[in-house]
Amino acid sequence: MSRRVIYGVKSHNCGDLRKENVGKEVILTGWVNRRRDHGGLIFLDLRDRSGLVQVVVTPDRMEAFAEAEGVRSEFVLSVEGKVRARPGEAVNPNIPTGEVEIDVSSIKILNRSKTPPFELDQAGVDETLRLRYRYIDLRRPEMVKALVMRHKIAQKVREYLNDADFIEVETPMLTKSTPEGARDFLVPSRLQAGHFYALPQSPQLFKQILMIAGMERYYQLARAFRDEDLRADRQLEHTQVDIEMSFVTQEDILSLFEGLLKAVCAVAGVDLETPFPRLTYGEAVDRYGTDKPDLRYGLEIEDISDVFKDCGFKVFSDALDGGGSVRGIVAPGCGGYSRSQIDELAQVAVDNGAKGLAWIAIGPEGDIKSPIAKFLTEGEIEGSISRLQAGAGDLILIVADSPPAFPSKVLGALRVKLARDLGLARAGGFKMLWVLDFPLFEWDEEEGRLNSNHHPFTMPMDEDLPFLEERPLEVRASAYDIVLNGVELGSGSLRIYTSELQEKIFRLLGLAHDEYEEKFGFLLEAFDYGAPPHGGLAIGLDRLIAVLLGRDSIRDVIAFPKTQQGTDQMTKAPDAVSPEQLKELHIRVT
Ligand code: AMO
Ligand code: AMP
Repeated sequence: MSRRVIYGVKSHNCGDLRKENVGKEVILTGWVNRRRDHGGLIFLDLRDRSGLVQVVVTPDRMEAFAEAEGVRSEFVLSVEGKVRARPGEAVNPNIPTGEVEIDVSSIKILNRSKTPPFELDQAGVDETLRLRYRYIDLRRPEMVKALVMRHKIAQKVREYLNDADFIEVETPMLTKSTPEGARDFLVPSRLQAGHFYALPQSPQLFKQILMIAGMERYYQLARAFRDEDLRADRQLEHTQVDIEMSFVTQEDILSLFEGLLKAVCAVAGVDLETPFPRLTYGEAVDRYGTDKPDLRYGLEIEDISDVFKDCGFKVFSDALDGGGSVRGIVAPGCGGYSRSQIDELAQVAVDNGAKGLAWIAIGPEGDIKSPIAKFLTEGEIEGSISRLQAGAGDLILIVADSPPAFPSKVLGALRVKLARDLGLARAGGFKMLWVLDFPLFEWDEEEGRLNSNHHPFTMPMDEDLPFLEERPLEVRASAYDIVLNGVELGSGSLRIYTSELQEKIFRLLGLAHDEYEEKFGFLLEAFDYGAPPHGGLAIGLDRLIAVLLGRDSIRDVIAFPKTQQGTDQMTKAPDAVSPEQLKELHIRVT
């Protein structure tokens, strides 16, 4: 039955044993998951990476029995015995090896263990403790599952891309900073006093240089480093499936990724339909209030400004007169929400910057309850209901504000909360989506200048080039994001490949000639030696696996992640270093 190569001292994996193996003499190795004494018998659950199997020791095997009596949880054993069928009443249908057990002839303790700081099957163990004893935590089946899945997916990525004529190329870790919008990790140079390398925020510039070097199709499972505030979906170092291609259109890149993601998700048993749906950035923001909408559920946002064009309610008319909009969503079946439930929704609206939340509850008989009913005409209430396609028992939520997209942002946050409260998200499967036509720039209020929406190497759309300088904020980029269940999985773009256009973009970003020459001179120079048209995309591998496995945090799919404070609980990094080390690096800590 074993597909696996068995090596070393064992004959079988614990978790592989089945009825077909009954009668077989086996040698197993592993950890004691649990020991139970049962009226003269000792039961051990022996566990290795493949799973666990029940081992039975009877007193007549005197030596083995004496060993077993001294055994505790997480001891490391080698066990010899015969596979036998469990009697009917002892079959355990909850584990794959539940029909068999091992009748032991000998037990060898290979190593002992202190009492573990937590039980492997204990729920709700503090994460800091889990990370401190990560080697124990990683013995838990769900962690094994995550790492095995991660391995399989990485294999599939390589297989798929190798077949599509890509080559894997490694790019440096000690490099010059490339701007991806986060803070750099710096590494001091010993050889050149006062100079620093930066760890790559991504291989962006190197992969573009590889295209100029004629590699045509590059990929790398690349580690990327960003010193940013950590969240459930952000680590200081993450892994990207990083790709770049030459002589391709945006459509070529999207279709390659659809094939890749379909193949990769199939490894996790997730069947994706291709082509993936697409939304423009503008549509996504208007209809879902975010550029990474979760399409597992509807709850779409509707612009109902026209219903209120002659409105007497000052909140709405002021918003519209100020160039804003009135928008709404329907919370299905929430017409009976209590005051405190509605207050909770209003609080989410206010937390997201709204001045207030208007609502209309529709009773089971179609009767209306609303604090703003007295300010509205019957036509306006009817209009809202029909435009939003609300029905008996529903709750309508309305936000008015300016600029016109702002109410969508607020309602987008409510949409996510409602979906969670109503259990719509979990039931929705896996919904992949492209978001296209991003604006090339965004306005940085603080700095009072333009910023790249994706990164400065992104190609503006051809048809928007004529007004690049006059109306830069209206220019769209040849850039795309891939979104899965409301998570931004990856981003990419076609790239600029002439120094002329690249310099123009740097200038629009407020970089002086000397500044961009100093930072990106090598790239501009390379563009002048035959740069092909090229483009690419990078997918966050940690996020992909976390979503596929339904884990809330990417920490649960990374072998050795950092805590929220950026520390490694096990090794205690980051750490102080010796004065000698600092001196060599020409560094004084103040
Ligand atoms: P971007 O910055 O969007 O694009 O990163 C690509 C993807 O990497 C993942 N990601 C992260 N995952 C975990 N922790 C983080 N701190 C983190 N930051 C990013 C996300 C994200 O979508 N060079 C460009 C790609 C390109 O243009 O080809 C880039 O790095 O899933
Ligand atoms: P007021 O007359 O200011 O008490 O507002 C009446 C109702 O309108 C309250 O339920 C407010 O929460 C709601 N409201 C206030 N501002 C807004 C807004 N910008 N959009 C939607 N509803 C609002």
